[in-house]
Amino acid sequence: MKFKNLRIFGGREKPVTPDFSRLPQHIAIIMDGNGRWATARALPRTAGHRAGSENFRRIATLCNDIGLKYLTVYAFSTENWSRPKNEVDAIMSLFKEYLIEACGELTKKNITLKIIGDTAPLSEDIRELIRETDRLSLGNTGLHVNVCLNYGGRAEIVRAAQTLAQKVRNGELNPEQISAADFSACLDTAGIPDPDLIIRPSGELRISNFLLWQSAYAEYYFTSVLWPDFDQEELFRAIADYQGRSRRYGGIEKR
Ligand code: FPP
Repeated sequence: MKFKNLRIFGGREKPVTPDFSRLPQHIAIIMDGNGRWATARALPRTAGHRAGSENFRRIATLCNDIGLKYLTVYAFSTENWSRPKNEVDAIMSLFKEYLIEACGELTKKNITLKIIGDTAPLSEDIRELIRETDRLSLGNTGLHVNVCLNYGGRAEIVRAAQTLAQKVRNGELNPEQISAADFSACLDTAGIPDPDLIIRPSGELRISNFLLWQSAYAEYYFTSVLWPDFDQEELFRAIADYQGRSRRYGGIEKR
């Protein structure tokens, strides 16, 4: 296809193979660039979201195949409600379609699916499907996929602070003894390790309210490739790049 390898800038680089014995434990992705992908093809933006949702399935399958433990994707932010109604409706339909499909596949593929974010404003049929995927995920030990839906890092931190304040009010917690671990345990991601690698396609160089607390020591990887075109080669390049970095967590290099 003419636009298959469309880049905002730059060209196709040489394929790389990461070391599969040293994969990051948790990769998180901001699935950005669907709209621009569609506009470049004179298609409606909603076609870009469909292409993006198909790519999400391909990348999640690939992550499962290579033995990744955790994959988190940013699918819909607390700010995305401000988009035109037809676009929001189209994205919600894609979620519904995916959740129905996931209900038939989670057990077979041994995958855990967790929706992260405030699900209260979502439609009742989507919330019912989320309850069903939670049930079907129980006991699965393969790839753990988190889909961030109506998610915002600040809103998540505020909700965690409210939970802690409630515990203090109930006399369950002493304010002086609140630890970072107590705080983590009140986030939507409780029990899930922090992301090691956060990938943002589409050329934007910002975090956009994604995993603000959890990304404290994440390694970032930015690429100009638009999300629907972010393929195996791109994922492997991001992982190999991550594997070449030295993570010091504020300390110094271990010899
Ligand atoms: C950002 O690209 C993308 C979104 C706000 C929606 C993401 C949704 C999907 C990938 C589809 C549904 C996902 C699942 C899990 C089934 P953008 O629209 O901001 O792109 P632009 O910056 O080029 O306009």
